[in-house]
Parts: sequence; C-alpha cells; structure tokens
Amino acid sequence: MEFFFLSLLCLFLLFVLLFYKSNFKNLTLPPGSTGWPLIGETLEFLATGWRGHPEKFVFDRISKYSSYAFKTNLLGSPTVVFAGAAGNKFLFSNENRLVQAWWPSSVDKIFPSSTQTSSKQEAIILRKMLPNFLKPEALQQYIGVMDTISQRHFDSDWVGSEVVVFPLTKRYTFWLACRLFINIDDPNHVAKFADPFGILAAGIFSIPIDLPGTPFRRAIKASEFIRKELLAIIKQRKVDLGDGKASLTQDILSHMLVTSDENGNFMKEAEIADKILSLLIGGHDTASSVCASIVMFLAELPHVYQRVYEEQMEIAKSKAPGELLNWDDIKKMKYSWNVACEVMRLAPPLQGAFREAMTDFMYNGFSIPKGCKLYWSANSTHKNSEFFFEPHKFDPSRFEGSGPVPYTYVPFGGGPRMCPGKEYARLEILVFMHNLVKRFKWEKVIPNEKIVFDPMPNAKKGLPICLFPHKA
Ligand code: HEM
Repeated sequence: MEFFFLSLLCLFLLFVLLFYKSNFKNLTLPPGSTGWPLIGETLEFLATGWRGHPEKFVFDRISKYSSYAFKTNLLGSPTVVFAGAAGNKFLFSNENRLVQAWWPSSVDKIFPSSTQTSSKQEAIILRKMLPNFLKPEALQQYIGVMDTISQRHFDSDWVGSEVVVFPLTKRYTFWLACRLFINIDDPNHVAKFADPFGILAAGIFSIPIDLPGTPFRRAIKASEFIRKELLAIIKQRKVDLGDGKASLTQDILSHMLVTSDENGNFMKEAEIADKILSLLIGGHDTASSVCASIVMFLAELPHVYQRVYEEQMEIAKSKAPGELLNWDDIKKMKYSWNVACEVMRLAPPLQGAFREAMTDFMYNGFSIPKGCKLYWSANSTHKNSEFFFEPHKFDPSRFEGSGPVPYTYVPFGGGPRMCPGKEYARLEILVFMHNLVKRFKWEKVIPNEKIVFDPMPNAKKGLPICLFPHKA
C-alpha cells in the first residue's frame, strides 16, 4: 500500500515538473542578443555581407547559442532567425497558418500604397494577378522577345575590349522588364528610369533613417519620381488602348488595365503604378545579379565555361540565320541551368526574407509569441557542410538527378510564397548565357575581385573584364 502511495506521489511530482517545465518553456524565446537600441544587430548583419560572407552572421550565432533558432534585431525589429533546412521547412509549410509575410516598416515607407493597404496586402493582390503572366505557357511566347533584347543589349553595350559587368547586366534585365511589363524598349526611355531604380533598390535594405542624404531618404524620393513616370505611361496606355493603338495582351500593364477582380472592379491607375513598381523592383535586380555573378564564376572556372560554351554552341549551330531562341532550345540548356543554380547557391540575390508569427507557437522547445518577426536565411543551408558537401566548392553536378535535399536550396524561397518570377528569371538568365558565351570569352581585370553582398551580390569594382570575341 505504501508503495502504491509513493508511486502516486512520484507520478504527481512528475506531472507537476512537466507542467512547470512546459510553461517555463512557453516563456522561453530562443537565445540571442538584440544588440543596440533601434538598430539592433543590423550593422553586423549587413557588415558580414559587405565583407563577402553573409553566412557568418548566421553561423556565428548558431555556434554561439548551439541553436538553429536565435533572436536578434534586424532593420529596427526584434526578430527570430530560423536557420537550417528544418527552419526553412517550418516557415515555408506554415505560411498563412502560423506565419505570414512581413516587411520592415521601412519598405512601407519606400512603397507607400496608394490604396492605403500595407505592402503585405499589396503582395497578396499582386500574387493573385501574376500567374496569368508568369505561368510557363505564357512565358514561352516571350523567349523570342528576350532573345531580341538580349542581342540588342550585347550589340550596343558589350563593345570595346573592356566592360564593367554589374552595371551592364542591370541594364539588360531592366530593359527586358521595361519591354515585357510596360512595353517600353526605347533605350533612352529605359535609361531615364534606370538610375532612380538603382537608388530605390539600394535603399530598401538600408538602415531606415529618414534624413537628407541617407540612402533611405534617397530611395523614398526615387520611388516618388518613378511612380509619377509610371502614372504618365499608364494614362497614355489607356488612350492607346481606346484608340486601338495598343493590344490587350501586349504586356502586364495592358493586362492589369483590362482585368477586373471577382466583383467586376478594375484597378485604379495609382494602384497599377504601385504593382508595376514592385514587379520592376523584384524582377530586375535579382536576375541581373545572377547574370553578373555567372560572368564572374565562368571567368574563374574555364572548364565550366567550356561546357556551357559547348552546350550553347550546339544550340546556336542548329538555328537558321536570324532564327530566335525558342522553348525547345531552352529545354536543351540543362548544364547551363545547373551552373546558374550553383551560382545562386553561392551568391543568392536575396539572402532571406521576413515573416511574422500570426499566433503564439512553439518551435524546437522555444516559444514564439504572436507578432514576433521571423527570418529565414538562404545562407544557413546553402553554405552549410551539413547540407552541401564542400559547400564553398563550385560544383554544378549538385543539381543533376533529384538535386539537393528539399528545403536546403532556397534562392527563390519556398512554400506558397515562393518567388512567382522564378520561371521568368530562368528564361532571361539562360537567354543571357546563350548570347554571352556565343560571342565572348573573357578574363577578369582584377583577378582577386570578390563578390560582396550589399545586400545583393555585387563585385566591389563592378567586375571589369577584358572581352575576347570569338572569331567568326
Ligand atoms: C534570379 C532571380 C530571382 C530570385 C533569386 C528571386 C527570389 C525571390 C525570393 C527569395 C522571394 C521571397 C520569397 C519569400 O518571401 O519567402 C521573392 C519574391 C518575389 N519575387 Fe522573386 N526572385 C527573382 C526574380 C523575380 C522576377 C523576375 C520577378 C517578376 C517577374 C519576381 C517577382 C517576385 C514577387 C512579386 C515576389 C513577392 C511574392 C510574394 O510576396 O508573395 N522575382 N523572389
């Protein structure tokens, strides 16, 4: 009998202990430091990128706190970083259940919505519209246009014996976006937009201090300028559509003007300007950084260049003079795409993205309160030897067969919010590679110039290269 009561007492104590422990854990945020008031650890976060090793911010903290989740403060918000494949999987598969998209308040200041909705709501609306333009079937018809613009770009910009690559690839992807989104392909008109877009992109992930001369203030001004220009273009398009001078399907802009929502409401001009602005921003800097990084890696790895060259020349030789690239050609560019994927593993254009907890939940024994900002980090898996053997080695064969383990390779994110422009980006990058290697071999002017992350990959001096055109 005594034994029975003693067992009951032990069981009771165990329950009390478990109850206490679980409640205690409920109060336990992941370990970490929130750094300085206001700016938190933003400077360290950005500085590891400026030094060329953005992964260091994450890896230092993983090893310091022995945890794949740690708290910090980024861009003015206390944030929990979810690192590793498990962190990615958790965030991507709990979208709109436990977590939702979130942008730092600085983004809302640079992209103030004309409809008084937040950037989060804007993204939901934009996401609903995009599949129509960006689905693979629709995209296939753009390949010829991409090839034409790409050829014109190389003819006009890749001239002389030396060029600086990063600004050039920006011109290429921006030109393409202007042509395919708003049907502007006059290089002078495109150029008028290009500078303010550069300023805008540089300010998005800067420290959000709105004072004269700061990158943040400059980005807000640039956003206002671009919005005005876009409004003028939209007004003109409305006139052209009315006069039959523009077609209903010629680009994203026409589509936005003639498509109503489920209640039959059409978007207002200012609303369309907001959406085109987000698309032009999201859609050109990312892909241009990949194109430029490809040029850098191919310069450093002649054996990789050689295989890309052979693959692309086989396609080039199969074409009649003047015949443009098509979908069948793209399907043959398998090795080239593996190279581009490996470039995006080592130099992902976006280092990660934010989420917000929709409710209180537990992750790995840590409590995450409702409203807490969360961040997934591409580098926490891309450059982690746990997921990629010899992670700093350039090896396109990683993408052969079934490729990397799920949730380890995430340059485009994952889950319901995965980048909707992924296929568009794939096409513009492959078309770029085709026209590049078909024309040139090249060498870096500064042999040890490295990529730095600001926060997108960029070469310190813009990657000057010497061009060696192939003999006809
Ligand atoms: C190599 C090029 C690109 C890369 C690496 C890339 C990567 C990404 C990533 C990581 C995200 C964030 C996903 C998240 O929040 O978890 C994203 C979102 C987005 N991307 Fe891309 N992107 C690229 C090109 C493009 C292009 C060409 C377009 C448009 C044509 C585009 C449109 C968007 C949009 C609209 C979003 C927001 C989606 C949402 O919030 O639901 N991207 N992209």
